[in-house]
Amino acid sequence: MALLKRWIIATTLGVAFTGLAYAQEAADTVAPEAATRLLAAQAERQPVRGEIAMIAAANHLAVEAGAQILANGGTAADAAVAVQLMLGLVEPQSSGLGGGAFVLYWDAAEKRLTTLDGRETAPRAATPTLFQDENGEPLKFFDAVVGGRSIGVPGTPRLLAELHARWGKRPWKDLFQPAITKARQGFAVSPRLAAQIAGDGDRLKTDPAARAYFFTGDGEPLQAGAILRNLAYAGTLAILAEQGMDAFYSGPLAEAIVEKVRGAEANPGLLARDDLARYRVIEREPVCVDYRDYQVCGMGPPSSGGLTVGQILGLLQPFDISAMSPDDAGTWRLIGDASRLAFADRGRYMADVDFVPMPVKGLLDPAYLASRSELLRGERALESVEPGKPEWDHALNLSDDEAIELPSTSHFVIVDADGNIASMTTTIENGFGSRLMVAGFLLNNELTDFSFRSHSDGVPIANRVEPGKRPRSSMAPTIVLQDGVPVLAIGSPGGSRIIGYVAKTLIAILDWRLDVQTAIDMPHLVNRFGTYDLERGTAAEAMAPALEALGYKVNVRDLNSGLHGIALWGDDVPDISVLESGSPYLAGGADSRREGAVFGQGALKCDPITACIR
Ligand code: GLY
Repeated sequence: MALLKRWIIATTLGVAFTGLAYAQEAADTVAPEAATRLLAAQAERQPVRGEIAMIAAANHLAVEAGAQILANGGTAADAAVAVQLMLGLVEPQSSGLGGGAFVLYWDAAEKRLTTLDGRETAPRAATPTLFQDENGEPLKFFDAVVGGRSIGVPGTPRLLAELHARWGKRPWKDLFQPAITKARQGFAVSPRLAAQIAGDGDRLKTDPAARAYFFTGDGEPLQAGAILRNLAYAGTLAILAEQGMDAFYSGPLAEAIVEKVRGAEANPGLLARDDLARYRVIEREPVCVDYRDYQVCGMGPPSSGGLTVGQILGLLQPFDISAMSPDDAGTWRLIGDASRLAFADRGRYMADVDFVPMPVKGLLDPAYLASRSELLRGERALESVEPGKPEWDHALNLSDDEAIELPSTSHFVIVDADGNIASMTTTIENGFGSRLMVAGFLLNNELTDFSFRSHSDGVPIANRVEPGKRPRSSMAPTIVLQDGVPVLAIGSPGGSRIIGYVAKTLIAILDWRLDVQTAIDMPHLVNRFGTYDLERGTAAEAMAPALEALGYKVNVRDLNSGLHGIALWGDDVPDISVLESGSPYLAGGADSRREGAVFGQGALKCDPITACIR
């Protein structure tokens, strides 16, 4: 029977390969498909289907690393460690040991959802003026980012250790082997990585270690296809494989990190050895909201992701979106203004709940959302949007936040053979983080996710910098349950647009019943603060006149999500009808805007247009 099980990979080109060897790098498809079809029918790629286990992630080498672990009997937690360690090598601009992450983990045996917070923390020496000049004015974004000042205590290493300690089955050391081997052998620089190196210009050259790694001896950016070895990273991984993640937080590695941060010439940071030694992963309550027949669960504060996605869905709950067309501007008026209302609450209330009191329950209270939802009953775009007043036994004394979040980050989803699920969003914040590289990995700039201003007109901002605090995030790793059973796991990178990408894709799957791949590929229309962002080069562009007529400003631009998701459906979505009745299956999708891939163990071979056969 085991011999009959096959692995299948679909790249962003929609090409399927069987086996564990890969003939080609996935192409960089940053520019989405041309605008030739209806919004709902933009993509023709099929999800990868499998019966046993599945991984969807941003790079095929990372997917392959996780697949090897699953094939050896590893759990979703084991595979998550291997996937993250490989992403840190092959997609170093987005996530790695020097960053932070949030994970939702479904324990199938316990039937329990756990959320773990591996977000970076501000050093204990940090003050609310960290990102202000001598006049108290906010620094320019990249003046704050590049160098040591923006670096928080990395959380990803300890999060991986926690995942393994709680749910791992394979020996810790084994999880490091794929990344160590690849770091020593070298990997082909992907088109996306090459484009990002070239696009970052002089910023990435400021650190000698980053310059030596990402550029030729002549200072030229590495080209796509160049073979890149990272012996420093291999060495770091070998230490962590032997000694465990405590070796990251104390000893020579910790000292090297501190030296790098504090020694950054133009912009030294405040990180101290004691900050590293104190770092802890925190288990948080999942944030769940009822939507249609589902419970949509996400990450609570310090991420705003779960609450804001939850608010958008909660505000849309009274409207029958399934009966509305995705090609109708009126539908996007509802979705866009629901998002604006949620973003207004996000800006006022959401931050690290261990430092700032927050009306977490009030923000998702059905009565509160129903009353806010009444604001959506008009026919035109809301003229102005203010934060609401959720029930809260606390004096309201907060100003609106001003944090800037630029897109970067990575998301992956893993379902193992026992039905355990990891949905993890992981980041070093901006592309290439702080641009400082040590021991083979880049250090984050996560502290710039704090508001640079600490007060507005003398009133404090919830997401201000404070010592030991975690900056507010937008990361929204999500698991959707139906009657307590998981049916979908998904998430995305993309700065604060993560929230819009995830909300749109959930609506596309749960209301419009699109399969996960089509839902991911569907063009993006994102509204956070009033202006409607429409995805360049897609059918979304054609919505501009109708949205303008409703009163929106529009902005046509690239919208670089990196959605990776797996649906675990029974028989009730349209594409299941092509399967034999009663077949349980997994369907995975990877974002055509990046270089993602999906593995399905026990895959069903898919004809691209009509059917799947065993
Ligand atoms: N740095 C991206 C986020 O946390 O949302």
